[in-house]
Amino acid sequence: MRKPIIAGNWKMNKTPAEARALAQALVPLLKNAQADVVLCVPAVDMAAVREALRGTGIALGAQNMHWQASGAYTGELSAAMLLDAGCAYVILGHSERRQYFGETDEFVNRKVRAAVAAGLIPIICVGETRVQREEGYTDTLVAYQTLTALTGLSAVQVAGVVVAYEPVWAIGTGLVATDEQANETIGVIRQAVRGKYGDAAADALRIQYGGSMNPANAHGLMQQPEIDGGLIGGASLKAEDFAKVVNF
Ligand code: PGA
Repeated sequence: MRKPIIAGNWKMNKTPAEARALAQALVPLLKNAQADVVLCVPAVDMAAVREALRGTGIALGAQNMHWQASGAYTGELSAAMLLDAGCAYVILGHSERRQYFGETDEFVNRKVRAAVAAGLIPIICVGETRVQREEGYTDTLVAYQTLTALTGLSAVQVAGVVVAYEPVWAIGTGLVATDEQANETIGVIRQAVRGKYGDAAADALRIQYGGSMNPANAHGLMQQPEIDGGLIGGASLKAEDFAKVVNF
């Protein structure tokens, strides 16, 4: 059985003071969580959130990183920096990074390999646009994005990463994939991984759904056999809402 994993993606929200308050509000609400819980916060918030989460089982995560260990990459962060700041996870290849910052599948793969080599757990985002779904490319696309992102990892390493299936048309729009759509596409991703890395990796790999997941729809999504958790944007910014999703 795969343990569910629920991650909050705060995106570009919360000053350090606001971040501390949100993390402190979450701690008591999540003390009986049955799922692994991760807060992926802006880099400037990490110190405050790390402090607030100390002694809890809640993990800290980042939203992006560079694949190089160090160097002249103005504005970027390395895996070693994230680890030293207390991160255990890093979101890679989020559709907003692909769409607004030109991240390609090849960039995402370099980042995934650097994260895994450093001991960070990547949360690798894949997903189709509305047009791609309407034109029937969803399955091919998500399989390609996933296998490209994982290239160069061993089956054992693949078993330890997290994939987030986030249909682009469902992110921040209030449109949510139906439970069956999400389950089916996540099944496609798992089959692709099974074909290349074998049963053990495919059965261990945790695959989240993301895209307008909230307290009202979390239970239904989490009942689906292929769905192992959620990557939560908007609903992770309010303590009560995020706690309801975690405690689905
Ligand atoms: P949303 O964002 O929950 O606000 O749709 C999810 C995500 O982009 O990770």
